[in-house]
Amino acid sequence: MPPKELVLNNTSLKFVESGVKWWLTDQRWKQATSEITACILNPESIDPDKILKHSERRLVFQYFAADTGHTFVVKAFPLSLLRHRLKHQKYAYSEAKHLLIAKNKGLQVPEVYGYGLRKKLGLVLFNVVLMQYVDHFSLIDFLRLKNANECLEILKQRVSPLFIKMYHAGVNHIDCDPSAIFLSKNDALEDMLIDFQYVSFYQGKSVQTLAAQLGYFTWSVRGQYKFLSRKDLRQWFEYTINSAGHECNDLLWEIYEENSYKLRSIKQRLAGYELDL
Ligand SMILES: Nc1ncnc2c1ncn2[C@@H]1O[C@H](COP(=O)(O)OP(=O)(O)O)[C@@H](O)[C@H]1O
Ligand SMILES: [Mg+2]
Repeated sequence: MPPKELVLNNTSLKFVESGVKWWLTDQRWKQATSEITACILNPESIDPDKILKHSERRLVFQYFAADTGHTFVVKAFPLSLLRHRLKHQKYAYSEAKHLLIAKNKGLQVPEVYGYGLRKKLGLVLFNVVLMQYVDHFSLIDFLRLKNANECLEILKQRVSPLFIKMYHAGVNHIDCDPSAIFLSKNDALEDMLIDFQYVSFYQGKSVQTLAAQLGYFTWSVRGQYKFLSRKDLRQWFEYTINSAGHECNDLLWEIYEENSYKLRSIKQRLAGYELDL
């Protein structure tokens, strides 16, 4: 099943091409699908400069559709293990669905162009999501290039607002590290979040879950950037919680510290914490 929002969209388009069942948001992307499938089946044919990530379980690349002049990001999930094939909705399907829900909740995320899945003998061999290419700087690059004061300022001015927006929208992005944050060269309002496979949504707000997300971010940058000290990160945590309208009490500090020292399981992180009263 494709994400509900793709089906409900009037312009959604469903067809089979080169053994892949596709749901697209627009007729214009149809022409590109056979070549995209060929790339996924034969990653060596992709220009190495266009590959954004290639591992056993992931193939992410930039694809230029000459017919429309459009650039996509193709994020494919090769599923080689039976247990992954049986739970194929946890991969591209979840990513597409979560991106659509997040957009609906007002977050700045890549546009979804389509979803596809290839089956053989009833088992899914890979699934794939097509999305907008975000032509911004990754936060990784910003943090590498700046000095200590500038790093802290970027965290406060550009990164905190993204977390606070998620807090207000009831979005718990459990993989929100610098690789999931893209900063616009022109306008902070265009800053984007990506990588929505593992996200949970809730009605209401949870400052405790916000503290956990800030802890995860801190865990992810520990020792990675010479200008980001533990002290600065703690200051940033307190600043963000205050900017979300809360005081940093003992419980929030405890949640933050726990998440910043230890990587909790996907299941634990997705479960989140208590909602605000
Ligand atoms: N929409 C996008 N626009 C630009 N680059 C992207 C986009 N999606 C992914 N990338 C790049 O590909 C990398 C891997 O994608 P990501 O969604 O983080 O995959 P994973 O789920 O394996 O972590 C990202 O770190 C980013 O550099
Ligand atoms: Mg990632």
